[in-house]
Amino acid sequence: MKKILLSGVKPSGRPHIGNYFGAMKQFVELLASDKYECYFFIPDYHALNTVQNAEEMRHNSLDVAIDYMALGLDPTKATLFKQSDVSAHTELAWIFDTLVSVPYLQRAHAYKDAEAKGTEISMGTFNYPVLMAADILLYDTDVVPVGQDQKQHIEYARDIAAKFNNTFGETFKLPEPFILENMATVPGTDGRKMSKSYNNTIPLFATREEIVKAVMGIVTDSGADVPTNVYAMHKLFRPEGDIKALYEANKGKYKALKEALIEDIDAFLKPLRERRAEIAKNEKQVMIVLDKGAEKAHGKASAKLRDVKKKIGVL
Ligand code: ADP
Ligand code: TRP
Repeated sequence: MKKILLSGVKPSGRPHIGNYFGAMKQFVELLASDKYECYFFIPDYHALNTVQNAEEMRHNSLDVAIDYMALGLDPTKATLFKQSDVSAHTELAWIFDTLVSVPYLQRAHAYKDAEAKGTEISMGTFNYPVLMAADILLYDTDVVPVGQDQKQHIEYARDIAAKFNNTFGETFKLPEPFILENMATVPGTDGRKMSKSYNNTIPLFATREEIVKAVMGIVTDSGADVPTNVYAMHKLFRPEGDIKALYEANKGKYKALKEALIEDIDAFLKPLRERRAEIAKNEKQVMIVLDKGAEKAHGKASAKLRDVKKKIGVL
């Protein structure tokens, strides 16, 4: 029996190379290894915390499905589906809500960050880790490939699984995160973590013009021989040995180094961009993939939920 792998990327805007190197690249490689039964889903109910426009939600969700397929997540080998199509996710999240305390959720990094900004926090944002635990635990997931910033969420899922098992008897498997340490955080054009919310990204399917604009905008620390932020990004696209020689030969020549980076990023993204454009021509086909995926995910999730309902005494 193969181990079960599940992960997802929120449809909250265009994915960027941080999402790719931090998480999506692992999706592709782990699927190709043929060692896992894979589920890649689109957490649209998680995105609803920030995307509150029907057109945008529809568009973004379909985009993530196209992105998955363009990167090589073959729907005949993995199950691709949308979270909102499988109602067991939100139903299980409610059951978990009754087991989780408010102070425990207040310790979540994402909650603390939102609180520090002083904005009013929705119940959806507060409960984010509970829905995510339901996403993971419904499928008896063994491994969850994610970027470093999601590690705490996997710990929440493990804690919630253990709490349920203690209260109602052995039901859930404890999932493990799969995080590549050296790829833990990809820096953005301003040197902070690359993130959709910081406006410092290089989109994963960027056009050449977009790549040029983003790379030329990388913040450099004047005076240093090696522009740290340019170097940090460059080593994602070329072996570090090559890079060292290039930067040694071009000490202080920021423009030349940025131009070299543009060429490397463009060479890397071009085939992905082309494959994506091809898949995007047939949106109907992508929707069929998601419908089929939902059917398969629903079968598995509803069997698990039935077991849970028996354990808690509502069935
Ligand atoms: P964002 O911060 O841009 O909104 P998400 O929260 O949607 O990104 O993250 C999707 C996936 O990509 C997660 O697994 C996350 O850990 C990973 N990820 C996001 N940004 C980075 C980054 N800069 N470096 C590495 N991984 C990242
Ligand atoms: N929280 C994840 C992110 O921001 C998205 C997500 C939701 C997820 N549910 C999940 C990832 C379950 C892995 C498994 O990237």
